[in-house]
Amino acid sequence: MNILITGGAGFIGSHLVRRMVQNYPEYTIYNLDNLTYAGNLENLKDIESSLNYEFVKGDIVDEGFINDLFSRLDFDGVIHLAAESHVDRSIEDPLEFVRTNVIGTVNLLNASKNSWKENYYRKKFYHVSTDEVYGSLGQDGLFTEKTPYNPNSPYSASKASSDHFVRSYGKTYGLPFVISNCSNNYGPYHFPEKLIPLFINNIIHNKSLPVYGDGKYTRDWLYVEDHARAIDLIFHKGRNQETYNIGGFNEWQNIELVKLLCEIMDRKLDREKGESEKLITYVKDRPGHDLRYAIDATKINQELGWKPSVTFEQGLEKTIDWYLSNAVWLDHVTSGDYKEYYKKMYS
Ligand code: NAD
Ligand code: TYD
Repeated sequence: MNILITGGAGFIGSHLVRRMVQNYPEYTIYNLDNLTYAGNLENLKDIESSLNYEFVKGDIVDEGFINDLFSRLDFDGVIHLAAESHVDRSIEDPLEFVRTNVIGTVNLLNASKNSWKENYYRKKFYHVSTDEVYGSLGQDGLFTEKTPYNPNSPYSASKASSDHFVRSYGKTYGLPFVISNCSNNYGPYHFPEKLIPLFINNIIHNKSLPVYGDGKYTRDWLYVEDHARAIDLIFHKGRNQETYNIGGFNEWQNIELVKLLCEIMDRKLDREKGESEKLITYVKDRPGHDLRYAIDATKINQELGWKPSVTFEQGLEKTIDWYLSNAVWLDHVTSGDYKEYYKKMYS
């Protein structure tokens, strides 16, 4: 099988590419990525010379390029992760999110439909999405696959739109598809603009920890390798035209999470207990900030036997250890453009 993975140089994509290259030597894995600020080939150094792996640099928004790629290479499956993925950036520049997340997805759908010429035997288009499409929960309840879409940020609106396009290609053209909507991921190779890696990096450098609003926002955190394992399972065994929610059964209020992170970092850095917590600073809230996300992952658990394999404490320890022993990676991704971004958002 020839499998196209888009966004494979990003955070989740790199874990998925590594898993697929290592577990399926009989497949050829093509990683299509245009290496935005979030894409980094250093994430894949350990597998880059594998015989069943090929990197393709290109933009999913470029229709001509995408059509040409699909006519040259006969893909059996597409696993689509390439996206603009950061809510704060979407508030600054919504149109970029429409281009990549909506137009990019429709380009890939068209190219799949046209190159497969309605002969869909053993073909599959897998769209990787987020729980943020469901909007915000109050204090109670969980997102199920039947929860109506109600996106609140330009990021989640663009992902919701792309989900709808994927479903419409299934209904209108018979394109075989599957969609998964996952909760917040964390782990190695996470770009330090999202909460956990940003705060690990700031603690290392004794910089303040900017907690938005009152810090009482709640997220459901999942270790990234557990997400990659879920994608692998759904790609191979998920039912056609179905949606699967993926979550960690692991809700944390931001402020409680940050305090736990500070505690572990003090221990790892041989700092006095309570030292990192002093870096916590409450800052202006994110506009339209969703109060709470939490996933009901019963369907994937019952149909495919998936559940998270590591506890949050284990996953956080692994993540922190990785960042502490990969200072070079962290230095590389936080040089250049990152400094401008940080100044703009936080000073
Ligand atoms: P990321 O920002 O780390 O990586 C995105 C990748 O896409 C990068 O390698 C980037 O270079 C590439 N890319 C961006 N625009 C492109 C374009 N026009 N053409 C080709 N490549 C392009 O994102 P991530 O956190 O790894 O998320 C991957 C996917 O999973 C996204 O679709 C996201 O919506 C979804 N998701 C993420 C989370 C999370 O917690 N991070 C949770 C649920 C779902
Ligand atoms: P983030 O990692 O951006 O993921 P998402 O917004 O997609 O859930 O943020 C996680 C939570 O942390 C969210 O409630 C916003 C909050 N947050 C802060 O309090 N400070 C920060 O500097 C960042 C980046 C996020």
